[in-house]
Amino acid sequence: MEPLLRVSGLCKRFGAIVVADDVEFELARGECLGVIGPNGAGKSSLLNLIVGLVTADHGSIVLDGVEISDLPPHRRARMGVGRAFQIPQPFTHLSVYENALVAASYGAGLRGAAASDWSMDVLRRTGLEGKAEKLAGALPLIDRKRLEFAKALASKPRLILLDEIAAGLTEPEVERLVAIIGTVKADHAIIWIEHIPHALRAVSDRILVLNFGRKVLEGPPAEVMDSAVVREIYMGLKADGVA
Ligand SMILES: Nc1ncnc2c1ncn2[C@@H]1O[C@H](COP(=O)(O)OP(=O)(O)O)[C@@H](O)[C@H]1O
Ligand SMILES: [Mg+2]
Repeated sequence: MEPLLRVSGLCKRFGAIVVADDVEFELARGECLGVIGPNGAGKSSLLNLIVGLVTADHGSIVLDGVEISDLPPHRRARMGVGRAFQIPQPFTHLSVYENALVAASYGAGLRGAAASDWSMDVLRRTGLEGKAEKLAGALPLIDRKRLEFAKALASKPRLILLDEIAAGLTEPEVERLVAIIGTVKADHAIIWIEHIPHALRAVSDRILVLNFGRKVLEGPPAEVMDSAVVREIYMGLKADGVA
């Protein structure tokens, strides 16, 4: 079966800094690809390249058979690429509901009752229905993260890109977020960058490891997390386990 997303030969450098070095992977609908790697490895840049905020030097990004690497961000968004940012970016002066409505209108192209019904549906799915009338700028961190996810979902994406949306949350909050992501996974393809191993393991089908813009490993979560390569990158251990 044709994957929903196929990235191949993706290269990008900012001056001397290489953020993508011949990156390739595939992702099917219903799959979640976890992405890990040290700070500065190029994880957020990979998402920027996929959404079009950054243009690749070389390489191909194919969404559902269509090459999107030359398209501007709004065209990619219309084709189903949704993004939740590392730092939540709500319209702080609008309510939670209005934030979802903006995404449903401009992202999903819905109007009238269809837009409002879908917005409320998304707020229910993300545990925000009781806070629909609250100002987005007044939300605590967990709800700002949920709203960031809700906005991505409201735009009816086929591909959802999540950048460290669990960072800074308490353990029970992380678990609630994992449960929410689990419930939407079947209908979407998800790329989730996160530093919390058990959260990624719970939802990811595969984990991809980036270091200096290079894919150094991709495979089943348990295998990748327990690998010598990951231990070496994260703990400075040599592959044979000797520090
Ligand atoms: N627009 C940019 N211009 C110049 N350098 C950038 C830009 N975006 C990211 N970088 C640099 O690229 C490297 C990778 O950044 P990033 O993708 O944010 O890493 P990660 O998300 O893995 O921590 C960092 O050294 C960062 O400073
Ligand atoms: Mg980042």
